[in-house]
Amino acid sequence: HAPAPLPRTVVLVGLMGAGKSAVGRRLAARLGLPFVDADTEIEAAAGCSIEEIFQRDGETAFRQGERRIIARLLGERPVHVLATGGGAFMDAETRLVVRSHAVSVWLRADLEMLLHRTARRSNRPLLKQGDPREILQRLIDLRYPVYAEADIIVDSDERPPEQTAERVVAAL
Ligand code: S3P
Repeated sequence: HAPAPLPRTVVLVGLMGAGKSAVGRRLAARLGLPFVDADTEIEAAAGCSIEEIFQRDGETAFRQGERRIIARLLGERPVHVLATGGGAFMDAETRLVVRSHAVSVWLRADLEMLLHRTARRSNRPLLKQGDPREILQRLIDLRYPVYAEADIIVDSDERPPEQTAERVVAAL
């Protein structure tokens, strides 16, 4: 049976390939909450893909839109499960908004897992700027200390997303 709905939105953070969308979908189903994907919302608002936003307007413009959309989602949508893009939680203002509206969960995965999972989808502009292994390692070094500020940390390793979602449920 599904547990009673949480009083707070659950925000998933973590690197590209950590399983935020896959786990988030299962987690939302398990909790009986709507699933929202911040990247999808950004694309809907912009009327084009993330890649196009990066190409046309640059990363800084993307980050501004990302900050605005996440603040709006957390302020206006009823309780839900929100998967954010890997860079979202790196923004200090976004972290403040997340902290005041939601419980944050870092899905932590190691480099090999991230490489494996991002090899399948190629719609990530940051991974096209060079060798994905080097880029992901750099992002691990830069971002993991900040992701560690999340309320809850769950390992997202080789198990199926349903099991990782169960781990999140147990930790909430
Ligand atoms: C990014 C991650 C992507 C997307 C954009 C930038 C990042 O989302 O927001 O390409 O900075 O890590 P996913 O983590 O869902 O791939």
